[in-house]
Amino acid sequence: TAQLHDLAKQAGLRYFGAATDTPGQRERAPYPESYEQYDAILNDASEFGQTTPTNGQKWLFAEPQPRLFNFTEGDYVADLAERGGKLLRCHALVWHSQLAPWVEETEWTPEELRGVIVRHIHGVAGYYKGRCHAWDVVNEALEEDGTYRKSVFYNVLGEEYIKLAFQTAAEVDPDAKLYYNDYGIERPDSVKTAGAVRLVQMLKDAGVRIDGVGMQAHLHADNHPTAEDLIATSEGYAALVDEVAFTELDVRIKMPANDTKLEWQKECYQKVVTACVKVKACVGITLWDFYDPFSWVPDVFPGNGASLVWFEDFTKHPAYDGMVETFKQL
Ligand code: G3I
Repeated sequence: TAQLHDLAKQAGLRYFGAATDTPGQRERAPYPESYEQYDAILNDASEFGQTTPTNGQKWLFAEPQPRLFNFTEGDYVADLAERGGKLLRCHALVWHSQLAPWVEETEWTPEELRGVIVRHIHGVAGYYKGRCHAWDVVNEALEEDGTYRKSVFYNVLGEEYIKLAFQTAAEVDPDAKLYYNDYGIERPDSVKTAGAVRLVQMLKDAGVRIDGVGMQAHLHADNHPTAEDLIATSEGYAALVDEVAFTELDVRIKMPANDTKLEWQKECYQKVVTACVKVKACVGITLWDFYDPFSWVPDVFPGNGASLVWFEDFTKHPAYDGMVETFKQL
């Protein structure tokens, strides 16, 4: 039977994928034999045609000390993608979180911090040059109210750091699609979505290349956007950039899960599939991992969980068949 990536391709998308972490996360596997079952699903090319490292390419891992680059973590997933013939979305060059402490703890002059950003992007995007289908160049630069987030980058350089990051990435890896990536920018009427549109417009006005907007889509089963909302938002970005993608999809449930909540969750996953298929610029959908025990959600939002598509015992959520059905109908 055809699986998610195959069906996504048949419906006109470039890929359906799942992010994954380095082996470290596997300490969280409920039983040792889960590794094998997990890998069998992850490596099944008809299920997932794309992957993203959930952690390994972030600044904290890639340049933990000034000029000391380390690609062990990132390579684990990049190599897995290459072996499995999967597209690799690379994540993330400039982000305020999981940043190496030395970047935050230094009092930079603007000139120094410019140098640090340029050197980091040369080091990391240069190392992965030619292997990344896309780069999340700047991640989560906005506050919930749509204004710029007061990160070390913004505090020292203002919005200039965003231009600098995209310009540098374009020079270093001209073939990668360059994305702005954020959460909470999936609804057409939100102030944060308006902020994302302004950010993209700012780059375009400055003549800086940006190819895509990534809607992370960390959604809630009990209060999720409609397909029409997702389509309207995506079309709004697509008026400015060549592509959009759902880059970190998961749909959290207030635990305990039950049939009703799993049904809401299924509908949410189906709406994302519908939106991506209906929007010409939408290239693909990435789950933020696919196996519930490896989800970030319960750590950060205690009492929430079951947000992915495979339960702990490797049976599938109703959302799986829901997405299959939707791909086949469209
Ligand atoms: O590396 C340490 C390890 O040494 C230690 O043993 C272990 C103990 O818990 O922690 C490890 O660090 C964890 C790290 O992931 C790497 O596994 C952190 O505690 C944990 O907080 C961190 O969480 C990641 C989170 O980003 C941090 O913000 C999640 O795995 C990752 O899925 C999540 O991904 C983000 C995207 O990058 C951006 N969008 C939101 C999304 C969800 O937060």
